[in-house]
Amino acid sequence: MSSFETRNAHFDRLFSNQQLYWLGQNTNHLPMHSAVRQALLESIESEEFHAYAPPGGFETLRAAIIDDLGLPRDTMRALVTDGAVAALATVCRALCEPGSNFVTTDPGWKWPMQFARQAGAEVREIPIYDAAAGYRLTPAQLAEAVDARTRIVYIVDPNNPLGIRYTREEMREFCEIARRVGAYVLHDCTYRDFAEDHVLAASVYSERAVTIYSFSKWLGLAGLRVGAMVAHRDLVERLAAYATATLGCSVVAQRAAQAGLRVKAEWMKEVQQIQRRNQAAVKNAVDRCPGLSLPVYPSHGNFLIVECAALGIKPEALAAVLAERNIMIRQGAYHTPQFGSRFIKVSTTVPTGWIDAFCHVLPEALEKAQGLNDVPELF
Ligand SMILES: Cc1ncc(COP(=O)(O)O)c(C=O)c1O
Repeated sequence: MSSFETRNAHFDRLFSNQQLYWLGQNTNHLPMHSAVRQALLESIESEEFHAYAPPGGFETLRAAIIDDLGLPRDTMRALVTDGAVAALATVCRALCEPGSNFVTTDPGWKWPMQFARQAGAEVREIPIYDAAAGYRLTPAQLAEAVDARTRIVYIVDPNNPLGIRYTREEMREFCEIARRVGAYVLHDCTYRDFAEDHVLAASVYSERAVTIYSFSKWLGLAGLRVGAMVAHRDLVERLAAYATATLGCSVVAQRAAQAGLRVKAEWMKEVQQIQRRNQAAVKNAVDRCPGLSLPVYPSHGNFLIVECAALGIKPEALAAVLAERNIMIRQGAYHTPQFGSRFIKVSTTVPTGWIDAFCHVLPEALEKAQGLNDVPELF
């Protein structure tokens, strides 16, 4: 089978496994808020989805996204997309070209690098898996990597998979460096709602920062596919020409997103309580396994990376052993070929029972994974 077919069959198998504990994709599996359920049911029952939604999203939703980010409605605009990933693809297609370069961190999120390369840009990855630097990008590293041909500085913040987030001072410096070379800051804030004191690049670089917004993680709508990009209205005018959802995004998904934003404060309070409790449970389990460690704790995302390199265990082997117990976690190589052999990643916006099951089987899984070299392909 081709690698695309193999990958598809792999995820299809995971999806059809009703017993699976999804601890690998930072998705949110907590039971949805009743207001979101109601909005979904009303949308389906009224059959409003026979019509296309407006190309940039329902106006109410667009305004609610701007408000949620705390940005000014007069100058900033949201463009609703099929998830954050479609927003990232659109921005890369619109701004990258042969001769330009795209600067990001390693680890980070891999798909935008693919979009940038496809648009002809050279991709420059700055290594940040470094305990001495606190697992974060430094302004000096960024200044060294950019030049007059840098079109996009892509910052995943909070960083997936590391779980760090940047301070106002760091963000100000990153934006100043981008401004000096005329680059855009593509600020992927997919996980911002799990972070403490998150700072938007748009608040210090309103003219050239593009904020990437997702409903998959905080609200749990991953399979419904809805997200957005937010930027200055002049820039959105330009980016909109490259959007692929010229006939609008899912009507039903947008209704769920609108309902979610209306109850967000109440919903997130509960989600955060559960996911922080889950982070603490993973920490406890890791502390009881000599050789395992948590490079970043607590995490500003809804996930933690667990280092297993000191035990000589391959992340893929651990993933394969846990998969036999219906637990899906992510091997580090999904995020970074360079540092991927050191860690696995575990998502925490899941029912407490799922995390407890992971913690319970961890010691035995480590033993079984030791020396296991022949593992199936993972994606
Ligand atoms: C950093 C980052 N950006 C974007 C996405 C995709 O989000 P969405 O489901 O809204 O397309 C993910 C999903 O894992 C992610 O980790």
